Parts: sequence; C-alpha cells; structure tokens
Amino acid sequence: MPKVLILGTGGTIAGIASDPGRSWAYRAAQLGVDQLVSAVPELAGFDLATQQVAQIDSKDMGWATWQALGRSLESAMGDDAVSAIVITHGTDTLEETACLLHALHDGLKPIVLTAAMRPATAPDADGPGNLAQAVRVAQAAAQRGEGGVVAVLAGRVWSARDVRKAHSHAIDAFDGGGAEPLDEHAPWPMPQAQGWRVLRQSRPPRVEVVTSHADADGWLVDAALVHARASGDKLDGLIVACTGHGTVHQKLEAALQRARDVGVVVWRTSRVARGGVQPREGDAWPAAGNWTPAQARVSLLLELLSARP
Ligand code: SIN
Repeated sequence: MPKVLILGTGGTIAGIASDPGRSWAYRAAQLGVDQLVSAVPELAGFDLATQQVAQIDSKDMGWATWQALGRSLESAMGDDAVSAIVITHGTDTLEETACLLHALHDGLKPIVLTAAMRPATAPDADGPGNLAQAVRVAQAAAQRGEGGVVAVLAGRVWSARDVRKAHSHAIDAFDGGGAEPLDEHAPWPMPQAQGWRVLRQSRPPRVEVVTSHADADGWLVDAALVHARASGDKLDGLIVACTGHGTVHQKLEAALQRARDVGVVVWRTSRVARGGVQPREGDAWPAAGNWTPAQARVSLLLELLSARP
C-alpha cells in the first residue's frame, strides 16, 4: 500500500472551540496533525506518516512557512518510502499555497491539500471527512502513477491552479473560479516544475496588492513609493484588483504609471469573482488571466525570483 505522508500546517481543521455550541468562536491551529489523524477511525488501515511543519492560522501564511513546507516536500519527493503527500491547511490562504505548489512541483508524486470550515470540536466538523477523502485521493493517485497538486474539499477535487475560497463561512466554500472540479479518476493538470530551489531565497520580492474602486486616486501607491525610497525596502511589484475586466480608475492608473516609471512591475487582475482579466492584444498593462489577486501575487513573486541573477 502506498505510504501517505501528512504534513500539518494548522488552520481551522486543527481548531478548537471552548464552547462546541458556539463553533464560530474558536482558535485555529490547536491540534497536532497526529491528533487529527487519530480522530479519523477510517484512516486506521492506511500506511501513514505525519509531520508537523507549522501550526498557524493561515491568515498569517508567509515566506518562512512556505520555505519550511518546501523543505518537507523536497525531502518527501526524494524519499522512496513516501508515495503521496497530504497537507492540512487553513482555508483562508489555501489558494495561495496551492498555486505556489502548482508552480514548483514536478508532478511526479501526488500532493493533496485539504482544510475545514468548522473546527474539530464542532458538531458538524468537516475536517475528519475531508482528511479521510484527501488520503484516499492521494493514495489512489499514487497507485495509478498520477502526480500533481489538487485540493480536496467538501467532497470535490479541485486543480491547485484553479481552486479558490468563494464563500466566507459556508461548509462548501471553494470553487474553481469558473473551472469545474476534477473527475476523481481523470488525469490531473501537469504542474509547472519550477523546482523547490526558489524557496531557498532568504527574502522574496516585495509585491503588494491595490484595489481600484470609487475615488481610488493612487494615494496608496504614491505612499508606497515614498516609503520604499525612504526605507530602502524596494517595491518590486504591484497587483491591481481591477474593476470589471481589468479597468482601473484613471487617477490610480496615473499613480501606477509613476510606479512603473521607477521599475515596479504591475499586473492586472479582477476584483470580480469570475472571469479574471484575460490578456488582449495591445494591453498597456499585463493581465494575469484567471488568477485571483492573491494568486497573481504569488505568481508575480515567482516570476520576479526567476529573473534574479
Ligand atoms: C485559517 O485559514 O487558518 C483559518 C480559517 C480556516 O481554516 O477556515
């Protein structure tokens, strides 16, 4: 039976409410990954190993945790005893980690992200079911020689390229931004195989997100440029969460031009839930396709890293 390594990073799946009747008042990242596994009787027959990589509420996700996760994944990829990996994660930034792993993984082993919208103590806790399904999906993929990165949530399998949180509190909170879930037995999308090495860079480029909205006059962009100059903490990139299919308030656009003039890379995404901003001939500003603003930020980080000497 293929061995599945479960990497714990925290999240609501590992959360506890002091009053199970008020399950919205809980603390994420309280239970260890071993405890999550032993709470699922169905997993008793599987060949499993566990490792606690982090213990955070994923709102606090960042480069250092991605580096730790990358180290564990790189070593699991080189370990013949491990056939598949499941990662327990918070739902809030799962889409960012998913798109990072999709960019870096070579696709030779399956990596399955899972999470929960209810803490482990809730009467309707969804973590145990999601974890059990994630392990089943990971093991079955390993058995048929499938690799890549997917997320298993609320009974569905999503490509790591598409998955995103689409509801702030429903149990079935994820969708594919217009893309359909994967058929459990269909081939998984091939990841981009950029390699785990980029995570060894001690510091990522600084990429920030700004939104275009009524009265968006570029004040934040200009303030960021002033701060970057004064502090020496260079601003490398800006993701714009645009209106509609990539439009920007004219005053914000003027500020973005000032940023571009001093070397800041600017990409457009949409603040609308579906459709993204598709590239068109003659675009003055690059469009990030279907990525959410947060995913586009990860993608631009990686692009800027790959351009570093
Ligand atoms: C988190 O993202 O860690 C907290 C919220 C969640 O997992 O649903």
